[in-house]
Amino acid sequence: MDFDVSGPGTDNRLVEAAADGEDQAVEAALRPKDLEEFIGQERVREQLDLVLRAARARGATADHVLLSGGPGLGKTTLSMIIAAEMGAPIRITSGPAIQHAGDLAAILSSLTEGEVLFLDEIHRMSRPAEEMLYMAMEDFRVDVIVGKGPGATAIPLELPPFTLVGATTRAGLLPPPLRDRFGFTGHMEFYGPAELERVIHRSAGLLDVRIETEGAAEIAGRSRGTPRIANRLLRRVRDYAQVKTDGLITREVAAAALQVYEVDARGLDRLDRAVLTALLKLFGGGPVGLSTLAVAVGEERETVEEVAEPFLVREGLLARTPRGRVATPAAWDHLGLTPPNGAGPAQQGLFGG
Ligand SMILES: Nc1ncnc2c1ncn2[C@@H]1O[C@H](COP(=O)(O)OP(=O)(O)OP(=O)(O)O)[C@@H](O)[C@H]1O
Ligand SMILES: [Mg+2]
Repeated sequence: MDFDVSGPGTDNRLVEAAADGEDQAVEAALRPKDLEEFIGQERVREQLDLVLRAARARGATADHVLLSGGPGLGKTTLSMIIAAEMGAPIRITSGPAIQHAGDLAAILSSLTEGEVLFLDEIHRMSRPAEEMLYMAMEDFRVDVIVGKGPGATAIPLELPPFTLVGATTRAGLLPPPLRDRFGFTGHMEFYGPAELERVIHRSAGLLDVRIETEGAAEIAGRSRGTPRIANRLLRRVRDYAQVKTDGLITREVAAAALQVYEVDARGLDRLDRAVLTALLKLFGGGPVGLSTLAVAVGEERETVEEVAEPFLVREGLLARTPRGRVATPAAWDHLGLTPPNGAGPAQQGLFGG
């Protein structure tokens, strides 16, 4: 078949949690530099503060740290803070960049004492590299293989003590032997609205943007619990304020700007709303199969399942059930629609209503 269904699209999504080019360019300037400046994540911050203080008091290198959590929640930021707090240099690499154990050996053998090695996306490292890392983390030693075939010999190489900071969006994918070798694991949670407001005020200060408390609250509520999204929305609202008003971001300006960018009061964008609207208006709130729903919005199955649904599920607007996708009462509420005869039979069964 040869027809083009162009759906709401996923290019340049304003509410995407992963970094785009512009984010990468400006994020360095917006990153908090020490634990004090790092907003929210109280539990991780307090625990990490103890770990680092104790290591400093002992004059020792800090234990290895694993940071897990969704994109844009502050893992890279925190790894840099760890190095800064320890007064140590930081080396940055990532799982996908380490394809061979030799790549890792080269990095490890060039570390200096106390250095922080930041291994981003650690769950994507190759198997042999992973095994080399076990020994390096535990005994500060690697075996470098010299030669090939039967004549190959393993030459043990001592490493200076270093701190490995691993980051992963998928802690569940880490093999237990690797997970167990971290002295401390910090799980990054989504941020609450008050914390995001603080993030926005801080960034506005650094970007020289004037913003009212209510303007910041308006942006915070649409930022999906994610500082990276909050910072991105702030930049777009700033653009709007510059062009359309005197530059001051008030609640009205923020709301009007984000309406132009199609990010609604709960942080849903065009795609999210299209999925939800189809589910409610075309299928009476479900249950409906994923493929049918995808065709209805003119998107690929994967786009609906992987791009739109996770946030809708997290927000309690949509449920994935064995019989198909079902809208929750909150979904009807959010789109200002009335469910057929109160709540449909599916909802009654599923939500006890
Ligand atoms: N606690 C925080 N306080 C203030 N700003 C923060 C905080 N956490 C994150 N940010 C901001 O959000 C941006 C994204 O954070 P960061 O790059 O650390 O996320 P990440 O978890 O490493 O994401 P990814 O999984 O995509 O690598 C940073 O530029 C930083 O300015
Ligand atoms: Mg990162």
